[in-house]
Amino acid sequence: MCGIVGYVGPKEAVPILLAGLERLEYRGYDSAGLAVNSRGRLTIKKTVGRLEALRKLLAEEPLAGQTGIGHTRWATHGRPSDRNAHPHRDCGQRISVVHNGIIENYLELREELQQSGHVFLSETDTEVLPHLIEENYRGDLFAAVRSVFPRLRGAFALAAIAAEEPGKLVVARMTSPLIVGLGRGENFIASDIPALLEHTREVYILEDGEMAEVTAERVRVARVDGREVEKSVFHVKWDVAAAEKGGYEHFMLKEIHEQPRALTETLVGRVARETGRVTLPELGLTGKEIAAFRKIAIIACGTAYHAGLVGKYVLERLLRLPVEVDLASEFRYRDPLIGPETLAVVISQSGETIDTLAGLRLAREKGARILAITNVIGSSVAREADLLLPTVAGPEIAVASTKAYTTQLLNLYLLGLYFAQERGTIGEEERREMVAGLLDLPRRAEATLALEETVRALAEEYHEKEDIFFIGRGLDYAVALEGALKLKEISYIHAEAYAAGELKHGTLALVVKGVPVVALATQPAVYEKMLSNIKEVKAREATVIAVVSADDHETEKTVDRIIRLPEVHPFLTPMISVIPLQLFAYYAAKARGCDIDKPRNLAKSVTVE
Ligand code: M6R
Repeated sequence: MCGIVGYVGPKEAVPILLAGLERLEYRGYDSAGLAVNSRGRLTIKKTVGRLEALRKLLAEEPLAGQTGIGHTRWATHGRPSDRNAHPHRDCGQRISVVHNGIIENYLELREELQQSGHVFLSETDTEVLPHLIEENYRGDLFAAVRSVFPRLRGAFALAAIAAEEPGKLVVARMTSPLIVGLGRGENFIASDIPALLEHTREVYILEDGEMAEVTAERVRVARVDGREVEKSVFHVKWDVAAAEKGGYEHFMLKEIHEQPRALTETLVGRVARETGRVTLPELGLTGKEIAAFRKIAIIACGTAYHAGLVGKYVLERLLRLPVEVDLASEFRYRDPLIGPETLAVVISQSGETIDTLAGLRLAREKGARILAITNVIGSSVAREADLLLPTVAGPEIAVASTKAYTTQLLNLYLLGLYFAQERGTIGEEERREMVAGLLDLPRRAEATLALEETVRALAEEYHEKEDIFFIGRGLDYAVALEGALKLKEISYIHAEAYAAGELKHGTLALVVKGVPVVALATQPAVYEKMLSNIKEVKAREATVIAVVSADDHETEKTVDRIIRLPEVHPFLTPMISVIPLQLFAYYAAKARGCDIDKPRNLAKSVTVE
């Protein structure tokens, strides 16, 4: 996720672009930059670091001009650096581009462009855009972008300016958001509404496959095939604070709703529907190296640790390799048995959690190969790892982790399927079935979000309870742990998760009349056993809320409330079944009047021990 802005009109562009970027910093903040057309010459100023660093640079080296584009970056391809910061430009320095999203086929485009003499300055996927536009540019930027569009695969939104066409912005959208703000004698473009609210409340929201040519006086919107589009104006009613949260009351709710998009973007370029194959070229591992691993050790804290617990089930089943999962704070002090044949998978949203980082360093000392799954590719964990498999969730602002968890899970499934494919531990039919299931996940996540009202009603019904238990078996147990953590951390309700088969070994003593028990029963292999456990707690007069799969019409005969998930491959269910638990925690906390985005005693990133 990155933020893009653009301005065309009679005013100086720089202050408007900077103010817009400031409103978009929630979309990314590892580097920032601007390009301005100053009397037929394009000038770019960009720098690694937060927007403040760009402001400083511009104070020392001011830029003048009335047409410009700006960008605030959240790195995905290429680490945060001055060179990788946007805007990017062509060889002739006549075209400048900012971009949000991923150009899936950038490697083949880059190779083709290099062969025809184009010189690249960065490691980004974005840089293919100005060079491709340069190849097609005959004095009409709109036409050039239009001819490039069909060559691009992936999810993206872009904005371009050309030296020879001062007073013009050209934008295009495929999946990633893009809006055009309508002013008087001036116009704007942006990734999101907050960037424009200071100037206008009237916007066009571009749809996938739409492009726009924006001048101070006119906005022309067309489909990529050239058909003109008559857009209707969207009138924004939100204030700035609400707009930053996309109209949601809290960042947490916004981030819960961003999960379908985050899953889509994390999948881009990694799975092929036609072949049913997974490719993780960013790892750069050979088949021989993949075959050499004898053990996997997962190291993480909190929600990332819970993702690791799901990862254990997934990787062991797909690879038939032993997988250990450790809380980083335990791992670092327990002299673990790992060595050169171990792959240490370090999971961290922020990439800065001190215990996780110490675990990584210990694993390295012991000779393990380190693979990081992180959401921040410029982070310490990302930098110190040998291999990097980033989640593409975009910045997560709420302390409670939601979209980072689901994308961490997705990366663990992708890793498992990729290694299984290379090690020959999965049959083609099964692999194809799972890849199809993965590709379908964003749609299933969207369908799960449609359960929001049902879950809200349940949370409002139970929010005054002092204790809530979560039970499950197998993958469901791992998800139950995450459901309980979410509820504890933001609603302060005492919540515990138990492996359902363990209840009678002690904790069943806590189950008394009226205690809510959230029972996850989505796994066919242990379904009968789970049903017995549900009956066990019902016999103690607990109130049971069951989370079940789409085709389960049996559990509802025993329980008090039911949450039925949309149809999804049972093995992939954790990425879907966690969503109602996140919503339950959110609405319970809301009903209790808690400070949801900033729960007491907690910080987003734990950088001290
Ligand atoms: O940034 P990290 O993923 O390393 O953070 C680990 C935990 O601190 C984090 O997941 C924490 O448990 C969340 N607040 C849970 O929602």
